[in-house]
Amino acid sequence: MRNVLEAAQAVNAATAAKPVDVVIMAAGKGTRMKSKLPKVLHLLAGRALLQHVVDTATALSARQVVVITGHGADEVEAAIVAQPADSATGFDLEFVRQAPQLGTGHAVQQAVPLLRDDGIVVVLSGDVPLTQAATLQDLIAACDGQYLALLTIDFADPKGYGRIVREGDAVQAIVEQKDANEAQLAITEIYSGIMALPAKHLKAWLARLDNQNVQNEFYLTEIVKFAVADGVPVVAHKIKDAVQVAGVNSPVQLAELERAFQMRLALQLMEQGVRLADPARLDVRGQLQCAPDVSIDVNCVFEGQVNLGEGVKIGANCVIANTTIAAGAVIYAFTHIEGGQPGTKDFIEVGADARVGPFARLRPGAKLGAEVHIGNFVEVKNSTLAQGAKANHLAYLGDATVGERVNYGAGSITANYDGAFKHRTVIEPDVHVGSNCVLVAPITLGAGGTVGGGSTVTKDTPAGALTVARGKQVSIANWKRPAK
Ligand code: UD1
Ligand code: CA
Repeated sequence: MRNVLEAAQAVNAATAAKPVDVVIMAAGKGTRMKSKLPKVLHLLAGRALLQHVVDTATALSARQVVVITGHGADEVEAAIVAQPADSATGFDLEFVRQAPQLGTGHAVQQAVPLLRDDGIVVVLSGDVPLTQAATLQDLIAACDGQYLALLTIDFADPKGYGRIVREGDAVQAIVEQKDANEAQLAITEIYSGIMALPAKHLKAWLARLDNQNVQNEFYLTEIVKFAVADGVPVVAHKIKDAVQVAGVNSPVQLAELERAFQMRLALQLMEQGVRLADPARLDVRGQLQCAPDVSIDVNCVFEGQVNLGEGVKIGANCVIANTTIAAGAVIYAFTHIEGGQPGTKDFIEVGADARVGPFARLRPGAKLGAEVHIGNFVEVKNSTLAQGAKANHLAYLGDATVGERVNYGAGSITANYDGAFKHRTVIEPDVHVGSNCVLVAPITLGAGGTVGGGSTVTKDTPAGALTVARGKQVSIANWKRPAK
């Protein structure tokens, strides 16, 4: 007996390894969003809702993903990519259009010509962004290469959803809210909108759909009856986590899922040892990598790829995008760091033990060496500052190369733009630039030199010298002010 069981399990394991093809329904309008933007392109954690779903398919190692578009199809198709930036694997991403939209069954019918017969099809919705790949793996395992597997959940208030109708334990049908009788309306187990089944069965059953129901729609959920009629077991994989099957229909629901997503991420970070002053006041819209002993104060926003080295401290109310911050650096409150894409010159680097802020602004291409200090109301753009350089107050460094230990005075600026072209400023090591200087680029300040406060410097300065370029101070004795 045991051997027979094992043999059966081995066969099951073989069939379960069928390729996975994903169909994502995304043709619906999303009227309640009250927005010109198609619903599935609204952002959650900085990514389109539909992109979340497509990215989940990556985690399933899907062979093919077919997205059904309709409302805003051009915009949706242009915005979605097959391969997330952080993944080496892509898949075949295709779009098919559904017009008019005659129901979920009609939607999936549009994908049929693209679906191969040997796969397991997972049906998802473009507006249900937070289903975890592990849950779908479990659903695929329940399908076991041969059954119709439905993802279900118990809702205390099941209103609006399709009910799972059972006889004993066996699933007999999904009945939509509008078609349900009193007894069926009392059922709390609902269909999540997510299923997995062999492509062959799906195709055969879709061909048998009609729209003889209250809404005159082609219901995908009708295929359950065909499975029962054909003797194909219907398995319900019931989960408890409502967030994973929650759809976005309104701005309120979008905000709820955003908070759920952020809280989940905050808990993960804290499990890694990151100290968050308040997990409810963190927003990560991209990838945040943290080495040990990072601490993050309240209300910080991280966008794109941000890497924080060991012991980095981020003060309250910072916005940081596309930046690597090396070990021991401290970013003080209200600092805005806006790097460009990783792998480009615009990505920002902050060196070990650097100090930035409060109220500092680092723009694309800022590269700060170790122990650099950037203080309040200092703006740095497309500039490199070598180890130990300091610009502590009210200054602008644009298109500059700044040497080791340079001290850049309060109120000084690089005049890098002549109205048509940008020019570079080179400040060699150990230069001291006084307060309120204008460095008119292109210009080089020689090593170890000093520029007197208030100078407007238009020519290169020699190393080691004091350069003063301003009106000489005169005093007129016994000066009489005009009187009325
Ligand atoms: C559907 C299920 C219901 C389930 C619920 C879960 C059917 C008939 N009913 O409800 O049992 O409890 O999901 O949320 O399937 N879409 C298209 N084209 C269409 C219609 C819909 O692409 O013609 C897309 C929508 O954009 C959406 C998804 O399909 O992404 C689900 O559509 P929705 O109208 O929300 O589902 P219901 O029919 O209400
Ligand atoms: Ca719905």
